[in-house]
Amino acid sequence: MKDFKSRYPHIELAELFSHFPRMTVPDDPALSEYSWEDCHRGFIGAGGLFLVSEMARKLELEPGMRVLDLCCGNSSSSIFLARHYGVKVIALDRDADPTENWKRTRAAGLTDAITPMKMDARNILLPEDYFDAVFCLNSYFYFGTDDLYLPYITRFIRAGGRIGIASPCYAKELTSEIGEEFLYDAPLFTESLSVHSPKWWRHHFEASRAVRVLECEKHSQGRNFWLDQIRWFVEECHPRDMEPWMREMVYRDMVMLLSDSNEFVTYLTLLAVKPGASR
Ligand SMILES: C[S@@+](CC[C@H](N)C(=O)[O-])C[C@H]1O[C@@H](n2cnc3c(N)ncnc32)[C@H](O)[C@@H]1O
Repeated sequence: MKDFKSRYPHIELAELFSHFPRMTVPDDPALSEYSWEDCHRGFIGAGGLFLVSEMARKLELEPGMRVLDLCCGNSSSSIFLARHYGVKVIALDRDADPTENWKRTRAAGLTDAITPMKMDARNILLPEDYFDAVFCLNSYFYFGTDDLYLPYITRFIRAGGRIGIASPCYAKELTSEIGEEFLYDAPLFTESLSVHSPKWWRHHFEASRAVRVLECEKHSQGRNFWLDQIRWFVEECHPRDMEPWMREMVYRDMVMLLSDSNEFVTYLTLLAVKPGASR
């Protein structure tokens, strides 16, 4: 590790690549026309289309359904959902520019299917009982740890509708013994405090009684999603050519993953249904 630290960012790409292997595009009919690069393009976090496609199946989407893509970022997930499932998507994000997302929507030929909106996930200005499904990739932990949030977001889902989340998680709850290399968001590490274990999330969801949990598991490829995202960053932009802030972030994640012999840092998928009669 010390050696790695002292040589970075002058380390050879081949060596970085051996530490951070590419994931294989899953044998999934919806992904058959996508390359590995396509699966990452436009996404801000890890997992990209691998996770969107997996969660879309679990949400049991049907053509014409209304889907909230909560924290859509660059709307790559919204475009995939509309294109492959024929659903109508509200692509919501607080910080992403909706005009840029509208340009992407137009370029994808999906203007009838996607409506980009600039909105805070905690202040949704849309009708209640409106969505058939809510999807949230790499973002729910920013606000979803609030005990009042799940009952809030569930108001916007119809009875029988589903919520599907894919997110970074820790395999177990954070304790004061966990080394600093596993914490995000230095120097205060506040973001790490909202990164919980699948067990924690299951209890958080079940205790609310707002939904019935169908699945809340550590993903079998969890660590690989992280490694694969580093690979994507490094391939997109050599460490030498990265902006200093980005180099710092990627380097921090590398150190975290290479220190993680017990797969403490991983991913979770969470699927739940709002009780009550379906449509
Ligand atoms: C890590 S990015 C993930 C974006 C996208 N889902 C993806 O996977 O590429 C997190 C996103 O959450 C959005 N976000 C964070 N807090 C939010 C909030 N309170 N309301 C709406 N969006 C929020 C940010 O603007 C950012 O686009």
